[in-house]
Amino acid sequence: MIIIKTPSEIEKIRIASICAMEMLLFLKDYIKEGIKTIELEMICEEKIKKDKKIKAAFKGYNGYPFCLCVSVNDEVVHGMPGDRVLKEGDIVSIDFGARYDGFYGDAALTEAVGVISDRAKMLLKVTEECLYRGIEQTREGNRLYDISYAIQNHAESAGFSVVREFVGHGIGASLHEEPQVPNYGEKGKGIRLKRGMVFAIEPMINMGRSEVMIKENGWTAVTKDGSLSAHFEHTIAITDKGPEVLSKI
Ligand code: MF3
Ligand code: CO
Repeated sequence: MIIIKTPSEIEKIRIASICAMEMLLFLKDYIKEGIKTIELEMICEEKIKKDKKIKAAFKGYNGYPFCLCVSVNDEVVHGMPGDRVLKEGDIVSIDFGARYDGFYGDAALTEAVGVISDRAKMLLKVTEECLYRGIEQTREGNRLYDISYAIQNHAESAGFSVVREFVGHGIGASLHEEPQVPNYGEKGKGIRLKRGMVFAIEPMINMGRSEVMIKENGWTAVTKDGSLSAHFEHTIAITDKGPEVLSKI
């Protein structure tokens, strides 16, 4: 069942979503050569404690032990903070969910460490564009897979591939609600979109092949071929005026 949100519920999701994006933008400045990924987690945790406004949504979710996901290079999603030291040329996806007054917001972005290859730059650019192509389709009267198709078409047109195993999702009083929002699909198919629906749209795009596997830690997805992967995510509400990006600063 897809839960339709009231305007006042959407305002709570907006606060959670803005806090999630603010966290990412704050952490982005620390993504520099020489920092350990666990330090990003520690900075994140300190900021949550200091601001006292939100709770971390991921910590404890299905037993996930951190506030933050930090996925480096071939890591697609659910990278676990640890002793890995970032180096020039890495690409780093940070993903953070926040809970405010019983409602969730979810956001992610991918950032370069110093100078990266032109192809890697293109991957980041195209993945962010994929997110916005998907958002454009997130409007009343459209079908769910119009979003999916727009993302897939843009990624594949650039010669990249779409991860199938992880998808976007409805979001609200739970972090993950129906429907699943795949990053691939057929235009004109899927349920009809209605105002009051709220989705986390999160394309995960690989430079090489689309297949992924899970690392020994049981969480982290990596590309099977070792190619780079990027991830951008926003939380979006469908209003009578079209898509509204709740996580926009
Ligand atoms: N944004 C990701 C998602 O919606 C991150 C979830 S991390 C988890 O699936 F720990 F909560 F699983
Ligand atoms: Co999400």
